[in-house]
Amino acid sequence: MSTPDQQFAFYDLHPPMDDMTAEVCSGMRESPKKLSPKFFYDERGSQLFEAITRLDAYYPTRTELGLFDAHLEEITQTIGLDSCVVEYGSGSSLKIRKLLQALSPSAYVPIDISKDFLLHNARTLAEDFPALHVFPVCADFSQAIALPPQTDGMHRVGFFPGSSIGNFEPEPARTFLARVAGTLGSGGHLLIGVDCKKDTKTLELAYNDPEGVTAQFNLNALVHLNRVLNTDFDPQAFAHEAHYNESYGCIQMFLRSLVDQRVDVCGEHIHFCAGERLHTENSYKYTPAEFGQLAGSAGFDIQRQWLDDSNYFGLYLLRAR
Ligand code: TRP
Repeated sequence: MSTPDQQFAFYDLHPPMDDMTAEVCSGMRESPKKLSPKFFYDERGSQLFEAITRLDAYYPTRTELGLFDAHLEEITQTIGLDSCVVEYGSGSSLKIRKLLQALSPSAYVPIDISKDFLLHNARTLAEDFPALHVFPVCADFSQAIALPPQTDGMHRVGFFPGSSIGNFEPEPARTFLARVAGTLGSGGHLLIGVDCKKDTKTLELAYNDPEGVTAQFNLNALVHLNRVLNTDFDPQAFAHEAHYNESYGCIQMFLRSLVDQRVDVCGEHIHFCAGERLHTENSYKYTPAEFGQLAGSAGFDIQRQWLDDSNYFGLYLLRAR
């Protein structure tokens, strides 16, 4: 509970915990085998991801930040005052800080499934923006979410940067966006960053950096799995792979088994042939026309869109119908 003038209030919607063992085992029985991308993000994984965003080869982060710098004034003017920023996934990053600085919203609602991470980031932001009301919500953001009542009547502005929408399959992406439209309400805005389709070479370099950080990030999922589920993957016996699948329009990431091997996964012996691939992540790319169609079918109109000079990355300001 909180009084109306309280700066900070935490809402725990108690997202159901997945049965990780069952999920991992069922992925290992599929063909091709697959592992949920959620295993990327332990502490080391989050650090490696931060490092990815600073790589020369990984153009999306700096391109999106450039679009912010160039257009935040126009974004602010379009959105107006007394807004409530709802961030899908809790940010510690430069991006949310830039947005909060420019927009000076009345409230900020970060939504994340990872409670400790969410609370830590939310507290830090509340300290750094003393005039801002901060209402973190611990929830699975792919589900429908009731926003804190303190934000009733405020103009809602969703924020979903980093082309995270590309990590959904296209149909779930539509379902997700439709839920977001419902949460924000008619007239609500969504500021979303989406990576564009482009030449295969540029795309593949971004996910196969010469420094090998993305490889470490991908392989770290196995280390994480070994620690939390007591599996016995040998990360040295797998190699990172990322290819652009032009017909699907997505980067597909895999871990390829370098040898014929058997892995103990929760009491089951899982066999990998030499050369067999374990699928870990997709990153779909959308032309502005394709993204316009996706957003439109989810109940949004595109109010503004900005691309960088190379047409590498798109920043879209959507409005819920
Ligand atoms: N959504 C971003 C992208 O698809 C970030 C990301 C998610 C990512 N998973 C990744 C980047 C794996 C590199 C590797 O680019």
